[in-house]
Amino acid sequence: MPTIKKQALVIGAGTGGYPCAIRLGQLGVDAMLVEKAEPGGVCLNWGCIPSKALISATKLAHKAQHAEHMGLSFGAPTTDMPKMQVWKAGIVSKLTGGVKQLVKGSGTQYVTATAEILGPGRVKLSYPDGKPDDIVECEHLVIATGSVPIEIPGFSVDQDKVRDSTGALELDFVPEHMVCIGGGIIGLELGQTFQRLGTKLTVLEGLDRILSVCDKDLAQVVARQIKQDGGEIVTNAMAKGFSERDGKLWVRAEVGGESKEFPADVVLVAVGRRPVAKGFGLDKLGVELDERGFIKVDARQQTNVAKVYAVGDVCGQPMLAHKASHEGEVVAEVIAGKNTVNDARTIPNVVFTEPEIASAGLGEAEAKQAGHTIEIGKFPFSISGRAMAIDETNGFVKVIIDKSDNRVLGIHVVGPEASDLISEAALAIEMGAFAEDIALTVHPHPTLGEAVMEAAKHALGEAIHVGNRRR
Ligand code: NAI
Repeated sequence: MPTIKKQALVIGAGTGGYPCAIRLGQLGVDAMLVEKAEPGGVCLNWGCIPSKALISATKLAHKAQHAEHMGLSFGAPTTDMPKMQVWKAGIVSKLTGGVKQLVKGSGTQYVTATAEILGPGRVKLSYPDGKPDDIVECEHLVIATGSVPIEIPGFSVDQDKVRDSTGALELDFVPEHMVCIGGGIIGLELGQTFQRLGTKLTVLEGLDRILSVCDKDLAQVVARQIKQDGGEIVTNAMAKGFSERDGKLWVRAEVGGESKEFPADVVLVAVGRRPVAKGFGLDKLGVELDERGFIKVDARQQTNVAKVYAVGDVCGQPMLAHKASHEGEVVAEVIAGKNTVNDARTIPNVVFTEPEIASAGLGEAEAKQAGHTIEIGKFPFSISGRAMAIDETNGFVKVIIDKSDNRVLGIHVVGPEASDLISEAALAIEMGAFAEDIALTVHPHPTLGEAVMEAAKHALGEAIHVGNRRR
């Protein structure tokens, strides 16, 4: 088999692998990026981007239907799901095409093939077009193979009646009833998307509340919205299986020890994702996995095997695109001989629900567990002029500080544009800011960002537009 020599090989062109490949090229490392499917991975093809397209389109429809009090009436919208899918696919193809160009532009070779590790520094590439296999000999190997949805017994995913996130994003009709198994990020983001188009939504969550990764007070705002829009949330509900009768699916769940049934036309299974660390020869290198199957890495994304690295979902939580990209860039610098470590203080978390939730830094419970005596500042969007003007007053900003020195520990936003507001919070935490740094930064008026400033002032007992506790 022909042999290609490279300084670095990156397996997987998702949001971990492709930034790594681009950075390697920029740094003058002779690298190759190999991907068996489309460039961009789950995020660009079957996750973040297509879901955000459907979310924004359906939010528009929902908002138009609820604008009468603003003096605007539109009548009932008609939904052309196949057309929405075409629009969404156009965005995806523009972005994935851009990835290939960026990689090539950086000087890194992009190859469509399936990679199999044969042994230390040796990887076989099998091409989809029947071209003879190649062997790549590389000094450095980066594993960026991502994750796949977890399946549960009783719900074999056929991408028709029972769908995972990939299948749900391809729906070309609006189901009358949807049951989401799992009240996590995917279940709620996609569940609310179809709810806004008129689907009756039932969320079955095994734990005692939805969005267990978020602080409770933030998750409650989304739970209220789902119910207000006619949805049902059933907690302590473990989905067990389903049957078909009278043209419906009947999802069976154990709810607090009782067996109950819920009608559905489509079932969305969103119970988490698992790493892809097996099936491509990684075991031949002796790379260590943790008890959940994630590749173990150190602060330089290095595995227990020298010159073998891992980035993104495959090396652990949080399974977020921006975390993967950051790790990919760190690894590229490590390979190029720079003294770089992954020392990010926070990986912000964003949930594109209605309203959006975004967090940076520690939650209330985490901060207390870490031994901090905390002070909390809050500012509700219900009294923000900008939030009123855009008619999105649901939610609040919460700033958690250490009472001893006012250091910002965490900032949490539930409300309009939380996903964009959180970048200021991430910067504050990354820079080790104090509440005063945010409070004394003049924020433009009238903006949603003022709520972050007011919440910081509230934590200090100095808020102008909301009553202060005495400190
Ligand atoms: P998740 O971990 O967020 O939520 C899964 C939920 O399912 C949990 O609350 C769990 O208790 C529940 N569950 C598990 N088994 C169950 C059963 N048999 N019956 C009822 N409930 C059950 O997982 P999800 O939503 O699938 O998302 C996977 C990953 O994708 C997340 O880790 C997230 O980081 C990532 N993601 C991030 C997004 C973002 O940043 N906006 C968007 C979508 C996904």
